[in-house]
Amino acid sequence: MKKPIIAANWKMNKTVSETEEFIKKLSAKDIPEHIEAVVCPPFIGLKDAVKLKQGTAIKVGAQNMHFEEHGAYTGEVSPVMLSDLQVDYVILGHSERRQLFGETDEVINKKVHAAFKYGLYPILCVGETLEQMEAGDTEVLIQKQLELGLAWLSANQVADMVIAYEPVWAIGTGKSSNPELANQTIKQIRKYIQDIYDTSTAKSVRIQYGGSVKPENIKDYLKQSDIDGALVGGASLQVESFYKLLV
Ligand code: G3P
Repeated sequence: MKKPIIAANWKMNKTVSETEEFIKKLSAKDIPEHIEAVVCPPFIGLKDAVKLKQGTAIKVGAQNMHFEEHGAYTGEVSPVMLSDLQVDYVILGHSERRQLFGETDEVINKKVHAAFKYGLYPILCVGETLEQMEAGDTEVLIQKQLELGLAWLSANQVADMVIAYEPVWAIGTGKSSNPELANQTIKQIRKYIQDIYDTSTAKSVRIQYGGSVKPENIKDYLKQSDIDGALVGGASLQVESFYKLLV
């Protein structure tokens, strides 16, 4: 049975001490067994987050990484470093990385491979902009992101990873996607994976929805046939709010 995965993407928020406080408070709560809860702090908070969640069901993820193991890449963090910290997940190809930092599908694909090489589970983000949606390009665009992002991965790897469908127009805007519409797109993602790989891989891969998810609307997404969780920004920053997403 695959567990729905609810991941907190804090983006560039929270100092080390704020991260510690959050993880301590969350650790004191009962995480429901049927949900996987993942917290993704900025790099500087990862070490403490991993240390403080020991003995709990909480998982920790990074928000990005370089694909190279080491070298002259000023300001970057490598998969070797994240693996050494015993981080569980790494978010890759978030639309903010694509739009603000020029990440291409080819670079993201290298990162996905590097994540697997070092025992990190990738959360690969895909999603269309408002213009692309209005032009009716959502399906074609997402297929391209998947074709390039998943290139050269084995069926087992795809089955083990997480895909986050985040329509760019729904991120941080309060305009969440209609749950049925999000489910339709996620169904198309699953169908695409079935066509490229096989039925069992398509069934196993967990596909999250992301974009203005909050405690008031998360159930509307989780009850959809093909949505296996949520990737949450704003509503994951306060412990009480994040916990409400889990229960
Ligand atoms: O990765 C999560 C994200 O982009 C959604 O952000 O603030 O709309 O929940 P938010």
